[in-house]
Amino acid sequence: MSKQMLDVRYQCLHPSCCANCREGVITVDEEAFVELCAFYPEEDVFRSPRGACRLGFNRAYKLVSVKRLDEGVNELHTEVVITAAQIRKRQNDPIALLMNEHQSILKLMARIEEQRARREVDALWASTREFENEIMLHSGLKEEEVLLPMLMSRLPLGEGLAVIIREEHREIVSILHAFRCALEDGDINDGVLGSVMMSLNSHIRKEDNEFFVLVDKHLTDDLRGELLEGMKKIEAGFVPVPPGERNIKTDEQKVAAAKRLQFHDDYLSIKEIANTGSCCGH
Ligand SMILES: [Fe+2]
Ligand SMILES: [Fe+2]
Repeated sequence: MSKQMLDVRYQCLHPSCCANCREGVITVDEEAFVELCAFYPEEDVFRSPRGACRLGFNRAYKLVSVKRLDEGVNELHTEVVITAAQIRKRQNDPIALLMNEHQSILKLMARIEEQRARREVDALWASTREFENEIMLHSGLKEEEVLLPMLMSRLPLGEGLAVIIREEHREIVSILHAFRCALEDGDINDGVLGSVMMSLNSHIRKEDNEFFVLVDKHLTDDLRGELLEGMKKIEAGFVPVPPGERNIKTDEQKVAAAKRLQFHDDYLSIKEIANTGSCCGH
């Protein structure tokens, strides 16, 4: 099935935005756009996609208008993404709670990505542990222990959906574990972290736009209350695992780790020099 493409007119909200891309139109597929909107609570603000900001940052963009490319030139569709956005705004609702946690997880992932780009091994060691804790609480406990058992008996194909969700959780956790194993002696494996991000983005997009919207239709007020209570109880008893020390075992590993660190420092210095004097990416 081909992707639904959108033309999105925006204004950059950053106060010192480069004048060349302060406003404009970007073309993006609808699924990716929903994901970008998930970064901010406001319905009309979204995160700039990769490459849109000429300085290379991810900025907050104000949504001016949205147009589907396969429809009439003058037809605007501001209702895109509204279903998920409306659920997210509800108070004391278990599905809104899970969707809003997705936004926090995506923000944490964006911080990890920045640390990866700056080659900050120790910061990554701490932040990826924080990420593991978030995933354990959100996915392993609130979704798997509270939401999935409830829906398996009440939703058509509920058991099959639960298997898929659990499997995707296992995949994210196991790739993240591989990244942390390499990190333990100073290796920042860009490819592995890229796989974590890809799997996480795909999983969250599936839950927000398909799975949760479906679940939401089958929930009574009583069930919502039960789910919320179960999730809050689990959160109250959750004890996050501290990051602990990175485990560099031998002298050889210490020397190798020091060399890698020196290499990263040299790399950053060269990059800084190369960037000096550039203006707006030109
Ligand atoms: Fe989730
Ligand atoms: Fe999940």
